[in-house]
Amino acid sequence: MSRLKELRKYVDEELMRMEDTKKRNGAFVHLYGVSLAASMISEKRGMDTEIACMAAMLHDLAAYRSGSYEDHAHKGAVLAREILEKLGLTTEEETEIICSAIYHHDDKLVVDSPMDEVLKDADVIHHCMNDLSKEIKDKEKKRYAALRKEFGIDRYLS
Ligand SMILES: [Fe+2]
Ligand SMILES: [Fe+2]
Repeated sequence: MSRLKELRKYVDEELMRMEDTKKRNGAFVHLYGVSLAASMISEKRGMDTEIACMAAMLHDLAAYRSGSYEDHAHKGAVLAREILEKLGLTTEEETEIICSAIYHHDDKLVVDSPMDEVLKDADVIHHCMNDLSKEIKDKEKKRYAALRKEFGIDRYLS
């Protein structure tokens, strides 16, 4: 089984424990959506796509587990480390890269390491493109516009 598949099996089981069906569906859609976006962005930028997808699959798990987004990025990095160490799928260096991306993923207005940026951008792609009729959050506007440019989407952005 691939590492990503194995991690997804773990994440799926965790999400299946969420009692609220609507929130559980939203969690699946978001984690898999961000993972797909992370795959596309990391391929475009020549990054490690498997690591980007693994970070994406774990990035909001702390919020789903606790039901609160309060400090969820920092708490999520701690949780991701616990999970990765338990599963033993990644090297220490890979675990660091994944946890750093999760730790920084809510800091959308600053630029961090290249892998941190892949996860932030993948999160923004899913927030903004899952439903184009939804209003873009102020803190994601600049990043979303840059992503559209990077991917050659030059249609007028309303
Ligand atoms: Fe988040
Ligand atoms: Fe997210």
